[in-house]
Amino acid sequence: MDELSNPVTAPPPKVFLETFGCQMNFLDSELVRGRLAERRYAFTTSREDADVVAFNTCAVRDHAEERVRARLHELKRAKERRPDLVVAVLGCMAQREGQALLQRFPHVDILCGTREFGRIDELIDRVRGGGGPIVALGDHDVLPDWKRDLSQRPHRHSAFVTIQRGCDRACTFCVVPRTRGPEVERTMDDLEREVRALVDDGVVDVTLLGQIVNAYGRKSGGDASLARLLRRLDRVPGLLRLRFVTSFPTLLTPDLMQALTDCESVVSYLHLPVQSGANRCLKRMARGYTAEAYLRLVDRLREVVQKVELATDIIVGFCGETDAEFNATVELMRRVEFVQAFIFKYSERPGTAAAQGMPDDVPQAVKAARNQELLALQESIQRRRNRARIDSVEQVLVDGPSKRDKSVLSGRTSANRIVHFRADAAMIGRVVQVRVRDATALSMSGDLVAAG
Ligand code: 5AD
Repeated sequence: MDELSNPVTAPPPKVFLETFGCQMNFLDSELVRGRLAERRYAFTTSREDADVVAFNTCAVRDHAEERVRARLHELKRAKERRPDLVVAVLGCMAQREGQALLQRFPHVDILCGTREFGRIDELIDRVRGGGGPIVALGDHDVLPDWKRDLSQRPHRHSAFVTIQRGCDRACTFCVVPRTRGPEVERTMDDLEREVRALVDDGVVDVTLLGQIVNAYGRKSGGDASLARLLRRLDRVPGLLRLRFVTSFPTLLTPDLMQALTDCESVVSYLHLPVQSGANRCLKRMARGYTAEAYLRLVDRLREVVQKVELATDIIVGFCGETDAEFNATVELMRRVEFVQAFIFKYSERPGTAAAQGMPDDVPQAVKAARNQELLALQESIQRRRNRARIDSVEQVLVDGPSKRDKSVLSGRTSANRIVHFRADAAMIGRVVQVRVRDATALSMSGDLVAAG
C-alpha cells in the first residue's frame, strides 16, 4: 500500500478544562488531565478551539456556582453551531445538582461526580460515540481509581497529594458532605509511594490535602493517623517541606502537635478554621467547640510548637448572627493574630441543615459591612506582623519569577508568607535565606543572604 491510501489518522480531540474552587479541585483537574493524556486527548486554552469543554466545579458558595452557570449560558450558542461539541460538568456542582442541572442546561452532555473522575475518558468517549447525556454520580464510598501522571503537574517543585476525601461532620452551613460524600482514605503505603515518586521527579514541597485532613486514619482503623503519616513522609530524603490542609480544631491531637515539632520537614503552619468567635453562633453551626476551647488549643499549640503560625476561615452573617456575636469574632481575631484569614459571607446552600431549619436573615448589606471590617482588621494585623519581621532572616522556598516583575524571584516562608528578592533563577526549587528589608500586608521583600 502506498502512503496516500493509508487512512488518515484523525487529530486527537482537544479538551478545554477550567477549574473552580479549592486546592483539591485543582489536583483533581491535574488527575483528569493525566487520565485524558493517557488516552491521547490533547489540551487547549481556547474554548472556541475545543472539542470538549469541561468545568471542574465548586459548590461551597453560590458565587462559585454562579460563575459556572454563566459559562454554561455562554456555551449554548456554540453548542447550537457545533452539536458535536461535548460539554461536561465535573465535581461538586454536578454532584450537588444532578439531573436538575441538566434540566436547566440541556446542552450539557456529561455530569461527572466527585468520585467518578477516574472514568472521565470513558464518559467522553461514550458521548463522542453518540451516547448521552450521561449522569455519573457514582458511589460515595469508594476512592476514584487512577494513577498519577507526573508529567501533568503544574509546578515542578511543589505538589498536592490527596490523602483523604469527603467529610463525616455535619456543620450546618456546609454542603461538602453532600458533594464529596463520607470520608474515605488512602493507605499510608500508597501515599508514601506517591510522595517518593514525586520527590524523585523533582518535588521538594508537598501539601497533603483532605477536607478534614487531621481526621485521617479514623476511617481505615489500624495504625494510620496523620501524625504517623507525617513521621513516615518526613523520612523521605529530598523532601524539604511538608504541610497539610485543612484541619478541624477538636481533632488536633497531642500526638499531631508533637509530630509538628519533631519532623524537620513539617512546617509550623496550621490552617485551623474557627468560623466564628461567638459560642452561640458556633453552636448553630454545630462546630462542636466553644471560642474558649479554640483559644485554649491555640495556647497549647503555641507552647508545644515553637513559632507556629495559624491561618483560619471565618464566615460572617451566618443565620441569626447578632452584632454582639460578630464582635466576638473580631475579638478572637485580635487575640489570635492569624497569619492569614479567609473571610466569607454566608451563602445558603440547598440541602444543608441551615437551609432547612434556619432563616438566612442577616441582610446582604450587613454581611458586606462585616466582611469589609474583618478584611481591614486582618490586613492591619498582617501588615504589623510582616513589618515585625524586618531585619530578620527568613527561610524561603523559591517558587519562581515574581508575577509582577520577572527580574525578581518570589518564594514562601514556611508559614506561606510571600517574599520577593533578587537572585539567580538557579535558586528556584531551593530553600534560601533572605534578610527582610521591607514589608506590606501581603508580602515581604529582602536580600539574599545565603543559598541553602
Ligand atoms: N457560606 C459561606 N462560606 C462557607 N464556607 C463553607 N460553607 C459556606 C457557606 N455556606 C467556608 C468555610 C469553609 C470554607 C472552605 O468555606 O469558612 O471553611
